Amino acid sequence: MKQHLWISGKFKETESYKALKSPYSGEVIAEVALASPSDVKSAIDAADQAREIIAEMPAHKRAEILENVVAIMKDEKEVCANIIALEASKPINAARGEVDRTIMTYTFAAQEARKLYGETIPMDAAPGGEGRVAYTVREPLGIIGAITPFNFPMNLVAHKVGPAIAAGNTVVLKPASQTPMSAYKIADIFHRAGLPDGALNVITGSGATVGDVLVADDRISMITFTGSPAVGKQIRENAGLKRVTLELGSNSAVVVDEYADVEKIVPRIAAGAFAFQGQVCISVQRIYVHESLYKSFAERFVEEAKKLKIGDPLNEETDISAMISKGDTERAHSWIESAVNNGAELALGGKAEDNTLLPTVLLNVDKSEKISCEEAFAPVVHINSFSSFEEALALVNDSNYGLQAGVFTNDVNKAFKAAKELHVGGVMVNDFPTFRVDHMPYGGVKMSGMGREGIKYAVEEMTEMKLISFKID
Ligand code: SIN
Repeated sequence: MKQHLWISGKFKETESYKALKSPYSGEVIAEVALASPSDVKSAIDAADQAREIIAEMPAHKRAEILENVVAIMKDEKEVCANIIALEASKPINAARGEVDRTIMTYTFAAQEARKLYGETIPMDAAPGGEGRVAYTVREPLGIIGAITPFNFPMNLVAHKVGPAIAAGNTVVLKPASQTPMSAYKIADIFHRAGLPDGALNVITGSGATVGDVLVADDRISMITFTGSPAVGKQIRENAGLKRVTLELGSNSAVVVDEYADVEKIVPRIAAGAFAFQGQVCISVQRIYVHESLYKSFAERFVEEAKKLKIGDPLNEETDISAMISKGDTERAHSWIESAVNNGAELALGGKAEDNTLLPTVLLNVDKSEKISCEEAFAPVVHINSFSSFEEALALVNDSNYGLQAGVFTNDVNKAFKAAKELHVGGVMVNDFPTFRVDHMPYGGVKMSGMGREGIKYAVEEMTEMKLISFKID
C-alpha cells in the first residue's frame, strides 16, 4: 500500500516513498511518502487558505467537529489500536489505553473550544484609566506547525491538533517517521468529522526537509514540538519570532521514603519503568530508596520485573516488545554495559534479543553513567539508596532534566518539602512520575522543555490575548 501525503483534504502523490517496517517483525507495513520542500510549501499554502475559514468558524461548530472526532474514534477504537501496535510495536493493551486517552484528549479539546474566555480589566485601578471599560479576547495564532514523536502516535498528535483546532488555528503536522499511519488515520477521521479542507495537513519525510521548511516559513506562527532536546534546541534557534513549545525528554526519578509500603508500590513503579518498553518521557528511570528498605525493595522489584511477558505487540499477553529501532536498542545496551563495567550490579536483564531489550534492573549506578544522567528511553531502571530525605531530593534535582518526579512518603512535611524543592514541571506525591491525565498541565523545566500542554494550557499557548478598551465620553 502507498501512503500519500494529506494536503487540503486530499491525498497527494509525491516523487519518493520509503518502506515503513514493523520494528518487531520487520514486515513492510506501507510505502510512505517522503515530502519534498515544495510539498511542504503546498501544505503550508493549504493551511494558509483555510486560516480565515477556521478562525471565523463559531466555537460551537469547532466543538462539534471535535465531538464528531470523538464519536468516530469510539467506533474505530480497535482499528486505531492496531495501527499503533503495528507501527510502534506498542503492546496492544497499551495501544488500546492510548486510544482511550486520545478520545479523552479530543473530548477536552471540544470542551475548551467552547471556553475561550477573556476577562474584564478594571482600568481605573491606575490613575488615568478612569472612564474606560476594557476586556480581553483570545484570538487564534494562525498556522501551527506540529512535530510529533513516535511514542504516543495518536495521543501526542491529539495534544497538538486538538487545542489548535479548538482555538481556531490550522495545522501542518509532521509525525515521526516511524509512526506516520496513526497521523494519517487521524487526518481521515477529522475529514469525516467535517473539518474543512486545509485545516489539517499531514506531511511525512525527513526532519531535515520537512521540519526545517516548517520552522523557517514565516507563515507559520508557532511550532509545537515533542522530541529530543537536541532537535528542540535547533528548532528554537531557527524559529525566529515564532512562538515555540517544546516537550523534551527526561530521566525521571522516584523517591521511596522510609516506611513506604513496598508490597503496594512496587507493581506501580515497575509499570512506570517498563510500560511501552520505557519509551515514555516520564518513564521511571531512577529509583532512590531509603536505606532501610533498599534490599527488600530491590528484591521485590526484580521479582515483579521478571513477570513481564516479552513478545509480539499484537499478542494480548505481551507486556514488552521491540524497541522502536535497532539503533536505539544498541545505544541503550551500550549504556547498560558501561554502567556494569564501572561497578553497577546487574540484577536483571541487560541483554537484547533482536530488537527487544529485556527489562533491565541495575543497582548502585554512578550518577555520571549515561544510563542515569541521560534519557534512556528504554526498559531500564536503576535503584540506588539514600540515607536522608534531603539527600534524596538533591539526587532527583541533580539532573539536566526536570519533567516530573514521584515521591512516596507518609510524612506530610516531607511531601510539602518535596513539592517546594523539586525542580520539575510536576511533582506526584504518593505516585510514580509517569502519572498523567490529559487535562492537567504537562511540561518541563531545564532541558525538559518550555511551555505547557494539557488542552486548556495548550490553547493558551496557541492563542494571542487582545485587549479592547472603550473610552466612555
Ligand atoms: C510523553 O512521553 O511525553 C507523554 C507521556 C504521556 O502522555 O503519558
